[in-house]
Amino acid sequence: PSLNEILHLYDFKAVASRILTNETWSFYNCAADDEISFRENHYAFLRIWLRPRVMRDVTHIDMSTKILGYYSSFPLYISATALGKLGHPLGEVVLTRAAHSHGITQMIPNFASCSLDEMTIARKDGQIQFFQLYINKNRDISRKVIQDVQEKGYKALVVTVDVPSVGNREKDLRMKYAGAPPGIQNEKDLNRDQGASRVLASFIDPSLNWNVIKWLRSITSMPIVIKGVQTPEDAILAAEYGCNGIVLSNHGGRQLDFAPSAIEVLPNVIEGLKKSGLLGKIEVYIDGGIHRGSDIFKAIALGAKAVGIGRPLLYAMSSYGQAGVEHALQILKDEFEAVMRLSGTNTIADICPNMVDSKSLSNH
Ligand code: FNR
Repeated sequence: PSLNEILHLYDFKAVASRILTNETWSFYNCAADDEISFRENHYAFLRIWLRPRVMRDVTHIDMSTKILGYYSSFPLYISATALGKLGHPLGEVVLTRAAHSHGITQMIPNFASCSLDEMTIARKDGQIQFFQLYINKNRDISRKVIQDVQEKGYKALVVTVDVPSVGNREKDLRMKYAGAPPGIQNEKDLNRDQGASRVLASFIDPSLNWNVIKWLRSITSMPIVIKGVQTPEDAILAAEYGCNGIVLSNHGGRQLDFAPSAIEVLPNVIEGLKKSGLLGKIEVYIDGGIHRGSDIFKAIALGAKAVGIGRPLLYAMSSYGQAGVEHALQILKDEFEAVMRLSGTNTIADICPNMVDSKSLSNH
């Protein structure tokens, strides 16, 4: 279909499932074990209802917000997803350009297909990029990366902490040795892409613990965000250790199956932080399962500062390149604006907990 026939984000998924090779589709779409957490990431949103208010003069809607103090045209950022070149020959820079067109932040993956320089050069003046890092067993390697990204103008360090080992992604495992991955431009990329999971598993430090935050603080002035928090207990620890933000995330269901969806944990995390007097000290983001403007609205209502998105933009990028990603972001923006207007909210600050009914949210 032509791009203007694409009406919502699920359409991109349908197109991508047809045009991507089995290998890439499996890598992008897969999740751990029986994919229950992956499924819940979507279904949990369906258990939250809205409480629209009327007669509130919704002529003007301001969707803009700040993430770590940086302007964002609406409360969504592009999450880090490895190996962009499997889906598009230009890889992550396609997302960089679309993020700029829409005035939103991009979280650059440590395991990008593009080099750091390519992604830095693709950044336009004033554009905000965060850097997602896996802490290496060899701290000197991590230190060099951190110094490099700080010098190159990345605005925050997002440390992914939910991968002490790689999740059991069976779809991906089945495909892995079936053939060369697509979208590979040269031999260098081929080696890099084929080896990714193995490299990942061998290089990430499973001994990671909270002391690493002190070490990070001692070597960088960038704000520190911890990605992969899944309980109020750890959210409180992150705030106590002085992190600037947390991403509630089960890694798109790709790590521990039966880890709860972020949206379900969110109210408990906000309550836990509030009770501990730490809520003002840390920003809370969530990712997993975002497909609609109403999903973003629900997350903001329950206390998230912003939401991250992964797969849908990979599908948009793979099917239609930069124009596809821009179209996907426009759809989300239009949907979010419509939900704000129909709910009687003019600004992000108006989207408070009593704009949603979440009594059916918790599954247990
Ligand atoms: C990811 N994700 C991820 N996260 C991370 O911190 N580092 C990484 O390298 C990757 N790589 C990656 C690859 C692919 C193909 C996917 C689908 C995901 C997880 C990602 O940042 C995010 O947490 C989830 O993708 C969010 O869920 P949705 O939007 O995909 O449902």
